[in-house]
Amino acid sequence: MKVLVIGGGGREHAICWKLSQSRSVDKIYCCPGNAGIAQIAECINVNQNDFKALLDFVKYEWIDLTIVGPEDPLSRGIVDLFEREGRKILGPTKAAARLESSKVFCKDLLRSHGIPSAEYKVFTSYLHAEEHVRLKGTPIVIKADGLAAGKGVFVASTVEEAYDALRIIMKEKAFGAAGERVIVEECLQGEEASYMAFTDGRTIVPMVSSQDHKRIFDGDKGLNTGGMGAYSPAPVITPEIEKIVMEKILEPTLKALRSEGIVYKGILYAGLMIHEGRPSVLEYNCRLGDPETQPVLSRLKTDFMEIAMAIAEERLSDIRIEWKPDPAVCVVVSSEGYPGKYRKGDVITGIEEADKLDSVQVFHSGTAFSDNKIVTAGGRVLGVTATGPDIASARAGAYNAIQRIYFEGMHFRKDIADRALKSRVLS
Ligand code: AMP
Ligand code: GLY
Repeated sequence: MKVLVIGGGGREHAICWKLSQSRSVDKIYCCPGNAGIAQIAECINVNQNDFKALLDFVKYEWIDLTIVGPEDPLSRGIVDLFEREGRKILGPTKAAARLESSKVFCKDLLRSHGIPSAEYKVFTSYLHAEEHVRLKGTPIVIKADGLAAGKGVFVASTVEEAYDALRIIMKEKAFGAAGERVIVEECLQGEEASYMAFTDGRTIVPMVSSQDHKRIFDGDKGLNTGGMGAYSPAPVITPEIEKIVMEKILEPTLKALRSEGIVYKGILYAGLMIHEGRPSVLEYNCRLGDPETQPVLSRLKTDFMEIAMAIAEERLSDIRIEWKPDPAVCVVVSSEGYPGKYRKGDVITGIEEADKLDSVQVFHSGTAFSDNKIVTAGGRVLGVTATGPDIASARAGAYNAIQRIYFEGMHFRKDIADRALKSRVLS
């Protein structure tokens, strides 16, 4: 079979890598891909936002399945178009993707169906929002309603910080229409975890748990990023919590959507806050997480193509999904300056050497070819991923592999998975 993957980050490299191990996949195309993906797939030069051109390509090449990595094409209806044209595609429709593309839609749905999440209020007027912040005090969370590439959430510890966030979103309109409505939300305490599941709208099958590291510096300091590293499993998600998440959060969410006439197919990703054994939803994403996918798919035993086809054909209950017990750790290496303005075009050395190490996989994010050399081309550059018999050895494997890699200005956190090690010692 032939498959097209949309996207060009570490998540998409992990997807292509997993597909390349499938017995039923003969050819992988990726749009736009990156220098790592180019070694296992044919990268195509079609505008990722031109759905009509992608559809023409799929028809011309007789592609059996399209897998969508990022949220943007999903929120703009790529699945609706492909399904109308009778093409198989993995991902939710535009209406279902609103779970991620409108935080107001998501919060209203959760509240009206009694699914645990933080208290909140929605505002379109700056003055009313400011007054509410004054009333509630801090800490408090301010969120732009729409997609803002992970930058539209502000956790404010002072009233001034909260006013600043409101000003940036509502007055300066930093996120354009995505900031027309603002959520002012209770700040939850606890430990965060990512919980992703496969669903065909009827059956829902959880993946192994994971935890992201959102801030740029060690000790969760500095600005928020797309994610600086992840590991799986996340010890905070105990079997008891997993049961609560499935029964009180994921299944009721699918049911709530169905009651509004929306069938959700694809990947459902819950960003959770766990406090004293109780999970609450921080947000939903309508796709695989990046970098969580790198460690999570590293642990997948079942053929990914088989799962993707079963979702697209709505027969997920027919297959058994198995995972490897070994934990996995992914450490992201980023360019100097990221998440602000960052360097580009630096030659990267040592990737092959790192990749050759046992149980190590180097996933590319922002990389490109220049004069036959691999160079940096994005903020997040590589996701160095290792598996091992326990978290400590997986972590050691990833950091050992990073030692072989070099590019000017490279940055990575030194404390990825430390929390998992600590909670293991405590338990
Ligand atoms: P989101 O994009 O909604 O996941 O928000 C990004 C990050 O902001 C989350 O990963 C949390 O670290 C933080 N966050 C969001 N909502 C809350 C909340 N209600 N309480 C505390 N932290 C939050
Ligand atoms: N790693 C967080 C996300 O993919 O949204």
